[in-house]
Amino acid sequence: MIDSRALTVLAAALALPLAGCGDNKSIDGELSASLTQPVARVELKVQKVAPGSRTGEQIYSNVCASCHSSGALEAPKTGDNAAWAARISMGLDGLVASAKAGKGNMPPKGGATDLTDTELVRAVAYLANQAGASFTEPPVEGN
Ligand code: HEC
Repeated sequence: MIDSRALTVLAAALALPLAGCGDNKSIDGELSASLTQPVARVELKVQKVAPGSRTGEQIYSNVCASCHSSGALEAPKTGDNAAWAARISMGLDGLVASAKAGKGNMPPKGGATDLTDTELVRAVAYLANQAGASFTEPPVEGN
């Protein structure tokens, strides 16, 4: 028969790893909370700009600049009037049509498939205006 001292030892042996588990969980909980906090904050910031209401400048910085600021993949550089003059003479509608369908090394909408038509017009107008065009960027409603 098992005496009470043996039971106490057995109970202690069972309780130790459980206590260890509990400790680990609470540390992990705090740690993961502190790690996910900055991510949550960033998501809130992004959500402030609802799809459809992004400005040309915002879209340019987030999407178009990756090629157009450096001239990557032979993209006409932002602000390079000579590279843009002939293109600008196509007019805003013509440029938007190219950007929408894609052209040469540029994928449709510069790869940002979530852009609305109006957002694309804003981005094209912003980009071309840096190189001498004077297109009117459609206003963002509700701001
Ligand atoms: C992956 C690189 C890349 C990205 C991203 C990109 N472009 Fe382009 N873009 C190009 C290249 C390359 C050309 C030159 C295409 C050609 O003439 O062959 C071009 C040309 C253009 C033209 C001139 C079209 C024409 O008919 O001459 C416009 C307008 C334009 N891009 C707008 C944009 C806008 C607006 C964005 C962002 C929404 C964007 N691009 C993002 C690579 C890119």
